[in-house]
This record gives sequence, structure tokens and C-alpha cells, in this order.
Amino acid sequence: MLEAKGLNVNLAQEAPTRWEKLGDLVLLPANAFTASDFSAFGAELYACVARVLGASRVARQAPVSQGPKRESRAVMLYPEGADGWVETKELGVTYGLDVTKVMFSSGNGTEKNRMGAVGANGETVVDLFAGIGYYTLQLLKNAGAAKVYACEWNPNSCEALRHNLRVNGVESRCEVLEGDNRRTAPTGVADRVLLGLLPHAEMSWETAIKALKPKGGVLHVHSNVNSGDEDEWMVRLVSELKSLAETNGRGDLDIVVEHLERVKWYGPRIRHVVCDVR
Ligand SMILES: C[S@@+](CC[C@H](N)C(=O)[O-])C[C@H]1O[C@@H](n2cnc3c(N)ncnc32)[C@H](O)[C@@H]1O
Repeated sequence: MLEAKGLNVNLAQEAPTRWEKLGDLVLLPANAFTASDFSAFGAELYACVARVLGASRVARQAPVSQGPKRESRAVMLYPEGADGWVETKELGVTYGLDVTKVMFSSGNGTEKNRMGAVGANGETVVDLFAGIGYYTLQLLKNAGAAKVYACEWNPNSCEALRHNLRVNGVESRCEVLEGDNRRTAPTGVADRVLLGLLPHAEMSWETAIKALKPKGGVLHVHSNVNSGDEDEWMVRLVSELKSLAETNGRGDLDIVVEHLERVKWYGPRIRHVVCDVR
């Protein structure tokens, strides 16, 4: 193809070596085919990518926006006018989302699996950053949770979340609380609270403490931490949670670290970790 267009064959080395396949859609990384020479191909290039990878649609990821609602800016490349709705099935759970509107994060697969096996039988769970329901659906379908309150403030994510609850047949056990979790989260009900926001979820640590039942429960606190600083971060986490518990009349809570899960590398020497605190 390159030769036929009179282009340098070394350009082939700039072709992406990694991509995501979501149903019939290939999601290319943000820098894929961005070298200006590739523009000589037009739509022909993406038709070829689709054919070679056995897909019928092609999109290119853009960096997840750093805005608070994490709006994704993935763009559809092929065919012209195609929509970005995809559905995938993992561990018996169907996830649907529009890749041009909400973030798709495949890197959290191990944490998704862990939430599906966490043993939440009969529990009430509050998911403070539910997104499209990656963890909420695992808890409801595979971990035995009786009820999940799913907080989410991005309307596009809420739409996908409601769809996913419906297609997985668990909508009657989930209440979607649309808006800022610091205003919408219930208090005094939770056996377990998820704080799945990066780079950290500190703004909602107090909300999480208040969501716990009087007898206490488990918090799954996500954060990015410099590799090697995990212990220091956990000491600060426990100390701040204790002080928040005291100021909220919950000084009786023990607050001890049960486990530290290293989920993935977020960047050079930066780890995405989850600390389980009880
Ligand atoms: C990183 S996504 C996580 C989704 C899911 N926990 C996961 O790991 O796949 C974080 C989500 O939290 C939402 N969010 C951020 N701050 C929020 C807030 N204060 N209240 C409610 N939702 C919030 C964002 O819109 C986004 O959908």
C-alpha cells in the first residue's frame, strides 16, 4: 500500500502495535496513524485496518479528558457516520457504552474480577464513582450484593449505566444517584463503599465514612501512588480516615488496613492501587 502511494516503506513502523477490540469495533490508541503522511490514504486506510483486524468499525482513542467528568473524546474513523456504541461481555456481565462519550478503561480488569469475587453476599454497597457500572455490575451479578447505590455525575455514563443494569437484569437491586456523590450518597447504610476515582478520591473520603453502617464496613480506596511510597500513603490514609470518623461522631470505628491491591502501572513509577480498609 505504501509503495503504491509512493510513500517511504519505513512508515509501516509507525503503525500501531496495540489496540482494543470491543465487539465489532477496533479502538486504536491516541497516537495511531497521526503521522501526516498517513493522510494520503484517507478512508482506505481504516477500511484496511477494519478488514485486517476482523472488525466493521474503527475509532481512535483520545487522552481521557482531565476534566472532572472524564469525558472521552474518542473519534469514529470508519465507516463514515458510524456510531460509537459497543457491547462487550466479560465474566457473564454485558457492558455497553458509547466510546465517543464515556471512558473505556480495560486496564482495570483485575480489579473488576476482584470485585466480582469479593464475597458481598446480602450486602448493601455504595459505589461513589460508578461510571458505566464496571464494579457495580460485578457486585450485583457475581458477588451477591443485595443492593448497590451507584453514584455518578456524568449524564452519558448514567445513561450507559442504566442500560447495563437493564440488560444484565439487575436494575431492581440498584439505585442510580445522578449528581455529585458528596450530595447524593446515602448515609449509614453501607457494608462496603467503593471509591474508584483516579488520580485519587480524597474529596469523597468523608462521604464514604458517612455512608458506612453504624457497625462499620469496608472501604475500597483507589489512588495513584508513587511506587515505593505505598506504606507512607496508607499511614496517611488511615490517619485521615480516623480523624474524619471522629469529626463525624464515628470515633468508634477501628479503621485498619486489610489489603493493598496493586492494579496497574498508571505511568512511569506511578501505580494505581486500591487499599481495603475496615
Ligand atoms: C474513573 S471513572 C471510574 C468508573 C469505574 N469505577 C471504573 O473504574 O471503571 C470515575 C467516574 O466517577 C465520576 N465522578 C467523578 N467525580 C464524581 C463525583 N464527585 N460524584 C459523582 N461521580 C463522579 C466520573 O464521571 C467517572 O465516570
